[in-house]
Order: sequence, then C-alpha cells, then structure tokens
Amino acid sequence: MGNAEPFWADSVGYIIYPSTFKDSNGDGVGDIPGIISKLDYLAELGVNLLWICPLFASPMDDNGYDVSDYYQINPQYGTNEDFKNLVEQAHQRGIRIIIDFVLNHTSDEHPWFQKALQDPSSKERGYYFFRKGKKEGDKLLPPNNWKGFFSTSAWKQVEGTDDFYLHIFSEKMPDVDWSNPELRQRYYEIARHYLDMGVDGFRLDALAHLAKDTSFADSPLPVDEKGFAYDPSRFSNREELYGYLDEFKREVLSHYPCLTVGEVGGGVSPEEALRYCDRENGSINMVFNFDTAWCNGAYGSIDKKQEDIRTDVIAMKDSLERWWRVCHQKADMPFYWCNHDHPRVLSQYGSVEYRAESAKALLAAGLFLYGTPFIYNGEEIGMSNVNFSKPEEFFSDVGNKNETGYLRARGYSDEQIVAYLNRCSRINARTPMQWDNVDYAGFSSVPPKTDPVNPNYKEGVNVQQQMSDPWSILNFAQYAILKRREPWVSDLIRNGTFTIVDHNHPDVLSYMHEKGDDKLILIASMRPYVTYFSFYWMPKDVILHNYGDVLLIDHVFTLRPFECFLLAI
Ligand code: GLC
Repeated sequence: MGNAEPFWADSVGYIIYPSTFKDSNGDGVGDIPGIISKLDYLAELGVNLLWICPLFASPMDDNGYDVSDYYQINPQYGTNEDFKNLVEQAHQRGIRIIIDFVLNHTSDEHPWFQKALQDPSSKERGYYFFRKGKKEGDKLLPPNNWKGFFSTSAWKQVEGTDDFYLHIFSEKMPDVDWSNPELRQRYYEIARHYLDMGVDGFRLDALAHLAKDTSFADSPLPVDEKGFAYDPSRFSNREELYGYLDEFKREVLSHYPCLTVGEVGGGVSPEEALRYCDRENGSINMVFNFDTAWCNGAYGSIDKKQEDIRTDVIAMKDSLERWWRVCHQKADMPFYWCNHDHPRVLSQYGSVEYRAESAKALLAAGLFLYGTPFIYNGEEIGMSNVNFSKPEEFFSDVGNKNETGYLRARGYSDEQIVAYLNRCSRINARTPMQWDNVDYAGFSSVPPKTDPVNPNYKEGVNVQQQMSDPWSILNFAQYAILKRREPWVSDLIRNGTFTIVDHNHPDVLSYMHEKGDDKLILIASMRPYVTYFSFYWMPKDVILHNYGDVLLIDHVFTLRPFECFLLAI
C-alpha cells in the first residue's frame, strides 16, 4: 500500500463496551485493568484499532453517555493513570485507541449544568438550551411539541420555575448549545487533552444532532397521545453543524494524526455523508450510519410477529452498493453489523440454530466488504440476544425503560413488549463478554452488577473453549482478520472496484473486489435453508469457507444454511 494511506486503511476495529468486557477487581463491573488484561487476546485476534465506549465520570443514567466530568475516568472503571496505561500498553502491541467523545449533551450532574441551574445569569446557562414553557390555561406545557429519542418530550421543566431545558435523549442528559463559541472551545480543550495524551482519535457520539432548529417551532408531523411529535429533522444534520465541524477540524483535529468517526445514525444519505467526511473538504474521516444494522424490518417492530422479521438481502445489497458508488475514492467508510446500540447480529441476521455457520458467514461478509471493519465484542465467538421474560429486565437501558412506559400506556401487553425487546433491545449487545465456561462466564468472580451473563456461555459460546477448537468461530475470525490485513487484500479492497454479484438473488449476499489481476469474491447465504448460486469463474484459491466440503456442480453452488466462501478468482 502507498505511504500516503492513513493508518485506518489497514485497520480492523474492535468495539469494547467497558462495563461488561472484563472485571479485574471482583466488583461485578468491567474496568480498564480488565481491558488491559485482554490486550494480548485482542492482538492475537488480529485487531489493531479499538473503539471504547465512554469511560468518563458519569452517574450512568445512560451507561456513561451522560458525562459529569470529561477529565476524570469513571472510578468504577479505574483511574486516570489506568487509562494512560491502557493507551500505552495498547500502543506497545500495535493497537490504536479511539475513545467515545460525547459532545451533544452532558450529564445534568456536570458542574456546567449545575451552575446553569443555580445561576440563570451565569455563562454556563448559555451552554444549554433553556426556554420558557407555553402557558395553556392554568397548564404549563413544554416550549414545543418535540419528542426525543427516548420516548418522552424533549424538554424537562426546571423545578419551581417556568423554564424548561432541551434533552433529545434522557432527561438527565441536557443538550449543549454548539452555537455558543465558548462552549465549543471547552470541547476543543477536552479533545486536545486526550489527543496530547496519545489517544488516536474519537468516535463522535450523536454527532448529527449538534445543531438544532433554534426557532424551536412545533413540528408539523403527527403527534402521539401526549401531543408529542417524533421529528429528528429538527435536530439532525442541520446546516450550522458543518460550520462547527470545520472549526473543530481547523482548531484541533488537523493538528493531530487522528481518526474521527462520527455517529450520524439513521437519517443520513451517502450524499450527505460526503459533507461530513469528503477526503478533500470534509471535517472528519468517516461516519457510522445505521443502514446495515436494520435490514430485516425489526426496528420499531412492536406490532410484528417473529415470522415477519426477515432479512431483506436485496435491500441490503442496494444500500451497500449505493454507499460505495457515492463515497468510493471520495470518503473513507467504516463498516459494522452491530454495536452497543443494536441487537446482536447473530440473532438479527444469523441464526442461533446455525450459530457457527451464521456467525462465520457474517464475520466474513463484514470483514471483506469495503472500508474499515469494526467487530463488536463477542461477535468473534457468536454471542447472541438475551431471552428475558419481564420488561423490567431491560431497564438498565433508560431508553427501554421509557419505551416500556410509553408502550404500556398505549395498551401493549408485557408479553408483546418482552418479545419486542428480546428482538430489538440494546441490552442484547450489553450482556457480559463470555470468556470461559466457569461462573459468570469468567467475566467477573461475582454476579455482574449490570446485566446478567447469557447462559449460553455453558454451551460453547465462550473464548476459552473456542480457542482450543480449530473449527471454532473464534479461530475462523482470527484467520479471516489475518487475511483481511494482508497488504494486497487491504489495497484491493480500498482501491479496487467493488461490485455486487447477482444483485437480485433474494438469499445470498455476494460481492467482488477487482484490481488488475487481483479478484476476490465473497458469497454468503443469509438463510437457514439450502439455496443455489450460479458461479461462472475459476477459483484460484479458497481463502475462507465454513463447511467441510464444496457442492459445485455445473457452475452452480448448492449453498447450505449460511454457507459462505471467500474465493480468489
Ligand atoms: C449514541 C450512543 C448511545 C447513546 C446516545 C446518547 O447514540 O451510541 O448509546 O444512548 O448516543 O448519548
């Protein structure tokens, strides 16, 4: 690969959810020394870039996305010294670290917000959005009808006053006002602090929402029973945001060799993405969208039955193709199937019944797509969703807790809500990492304080057992990552052409990379039944395959459940 390539051209990323990754001190919560103790494991797996979800001081209303002190590591995770040590130790193993930078909101316990509450004439008051409520008769209503992401009004009244503050997530997470130049400088100082310490960049949380429609007019969209309209356009991808990001780049990011990946969520088209991360003029390096996370209609599927949830493989291919066509050679792209906000991909697109086959097919399909791939912790051993029986079991996620209240008020039974949350909840991805076939899956020596361990760790879904099984998901993942990082493969995937093969095949995800004489083709059945796939090339090498024999007769592959190949042709 050329010298001019950025480090992420050759990176395989790994996402760590710190509270449930590894507990080193027996308090039932994951911590930084726990992560350090697993760096050798990660190096051996072959990943070389970590995105670690927030580690800062926080009352943990939204599991760390509610930051009360950006300069202090959350004591439950360790000390600032532990964090420096983690960065150093990772670097010694050739692993870079990007941290989760939450800059759309703080915790309501952050000193800025406390000051803003106590002293309406303080400069901190101008860091947030405070507005008067609307008087209707003797009732005081929120300033407008906006609904936030966590199923409530986006406003919370300040006790004993007519004032409300804006929070598009939980009420303990007041939004900060990026139009305030001083506020922006406070965030730049924080960014410099971590970059100077040696951190390699940021995953920029909820980035799309930094600019709001400051007319704060009501949304014209239909309202729910409580009079609230869910209209993210009022606080997503708005024009002013791009100016803030240009300044962030000019003042901070351009002075460091760092990677920035912005979370832009579900509403961004590839064309809009270029405004963020065009290689020439963009302010950041890549954006995470949600398009590949919900290709089965499960999102918001409270009214659906399980049998209605089916991966739309053609729509998935359309979307993959479209992002490539618009962004190739113009912007870098990341890829993930799953993160801490989504259900486990094995349950989403794969199958618990065909755990090994589907986990391997999804790993291969994700790793060899275009862009910088990110694996979510546990994906490398085929971890899957929970199977809870009460909505309350999901309440460590404030989003699920609020949504349950909202759904109950609309008349849904607990049975319906549980079926829905078992399918869609973020808790699915947040149960402890399964390290071993011992108590609490080797995550901790005591019962986890967060969410319980998935009992399937006793059925081989754990690192220790898979390490000693040559055909395990883990060994497949390790080999696939090794191959993905071979220089000719990284170069081919980054700089060659990408084509979807057999676009209209309803069951198979298949694509090809081509550059000069180098050609790679990936074929992955996304179904738990047999399907057929026409194949017109002469394989030179079978690089990856998840079955013991090959059924190829007269140019047609018989693909068994979730059978996948990576072939050099
Ligand atoms: C992002 C995070 C999510 C969090 C939200 C609010 O979407 O990924 O976990 O709840 O922002 O910070």
